[in-house]
Amino acid sequence: MENKTPFSIAADGVNPAEVPVKVVASGAKMPVVGLGTFGSDSVSGEAIATAVKEAIAVGYRHIDCAAVYGNEHLIGKSLQEVLASGLVKREELWITSKLWNDKHAEEDVIPACQKSLRDLQLDYLDLYLIHWPFPNHHDPGVDVDARDPHAIPYIHENYMKTWRQLEKLVDMGLVKHIGTSNMTEPKLELLLRDARIKPVANEMELHPHFQQPDLFQYCLDHDLVPIGYSPIGSPARPPRDTTPDDTVDIEDPVIVTIAERLGVHPAVVCVQWAVQRGQVPIPFSTKRRNFLSNLQTAVSDPLTADEMTAIAGIDKQCRLIKGQVFLWEGAESWEALWDVDGTIATK
Ligand SMILES: NC(=O)c1ccc[n+]([C@@H]2O[C@H](COP(=O)([O-])OP(=O)(O)OC[C@H]3O[C@@H](n4cnc5c(N)ncnc54)[C@H](OP(=O)(O)O)[C@@H]3O)[C@@H](O)[C@H]2O)c1
Repeated sequence: MENKTPFSIAADGVNPAEVPVKVVASGAKMPVVGLGTFGSDSVSGEAIATAVKEAIAVGYRHIDCAAVYGNEHLIGKSLQEVLASGLVKREELWITSKLWNDKHAEEDVIPACQKSLRDLQLDYLDLYLIHWPFPNHHDPGVDVDARDPHAIPYIHENYMKTWRQLEKLVDMGLVKHIGTSNMTEPKLELLLRDARIKPVANEMELHPHFQQPDLFQYCLDHDLVPIGYSPIGSPARPPRDTTPDDTVDIEDPVIVTIAERLGVHPAVVCVQWAVQRGQVPIPFSTKRRNFLSNLQTAVSDPLTADEMTAIAGIDKQCRLIKGQVFLWEGAESWEALWDVDGTIATK
C-alpha cells in the first residue's frame, strides 16, 4: 500500500528544533530519538516507508536504516518526496545505514554503501555502521539453530580491513561519520586504538530490562553515542528471536505504574527513560499515534528522580537479540559473541 498523500508538516507534531541532540566530535547533531525501520517478518516495507514520511512530518529528523532490512529502496522514495517538497532540507536529517555481514570483504564495502545511497536516493549518509563485528551471515528468516558453515569468531585484523574501507567512505565524502554496532568493550578498545577515523557511535541493545551499564558508560567515556536498539524490548519480534526466559519490559510493574501516572503506554516510558538516561533510542513503529508519542518524550517533563532510580533497579540483564545465527562451528553458546568474561572469544 503506497501513501499518495503529498508531504506536509503536521500541525500536531513536535517542533524538530526543540528535540535535543547529541553533538558528535565533528560538531554534527544527532537528534536524541530516531525511528527504527526493521519490520521483522511482519510489517511490509511499504508500511515502513510510509511511516518514515509521516514520522518526518511529525518532527522526526533521525532515521535508522540498514541494507539487510530490505526496504531502503522504499524508504528512499519517501525521503525523495520529503526533500522534493522543500519543507525539509537534507542537512536537517540524520540518516544512518549499516553494512551487512556479507559485505565485510575489502572490495565489497564501498559498493555496498553506494547501493544503500542509491536505494535511499541520497548523496551521503550521516552515519554508516558495521552492523555486526562478524562476517557471518545467513539467509533471511532462518531458524535460530541454523549455522553458517563459513562463520568465524571475531578477527581484529579482518575487522580493521573493513574499517579502513569505512574510513575511505568518509574521505570520499559519501559518509559523514562511521560507527559500530553490536560491539563489546574489548573489541571497541582495539578499534579505538587502531582507527584513523574514530567511531562516533555504537548501536547496541538497550532497554529497561537490558541496561548494559558498563558498556553504556564505556561509550560515554569514549565519546561514542550509545544508540539504543529495541528500546521497548521489541515486543513484536518473531518467535525465532524469543526464548522462554525472555522478560517483557512493557509488563514490568515499575514501568506500568509510571505509565499509569503519565497516562501513556508503557512503551513510551521505556523511550522516555532512554532519552533521560542519555542514550539515543530508535523505537520502531508504523502507527502514527505511537511514533508521535515516542518523539514527544524528547520534549516532555522528565521522569522523577525516584522513577529513574526505580527503573535503574529493574535491569534483568535480559539480552533479547542473542545473535545465535552468527555463531561459528564449535562455539559453545551465543555468549561467545558478547565476550562476557571480558576477553574476545577466539573459538
Ligand atoms: N543494530 C542492530 O543490530 C539492531 C538490532 C535490532 C533493531 N535495530 C534497530 O532498532 C529499531 C527498534 O528496535 P525493534 O524494532 O527491535 O523494537 P522496539 O523499538 O523495541 O519495539 C518495536 C515495537 O514496539 C511497538 N511500539 C512502538 N512504540 C509504541 C508505543 N508508543 N506504544 C505502543 N507500542 C509501541 C511497535 O508496535 P507498533 O508498530 O504497533 O507501534 C513495535 O511492535 C529497529 O527497527 C532497527 O532500526 C538494530
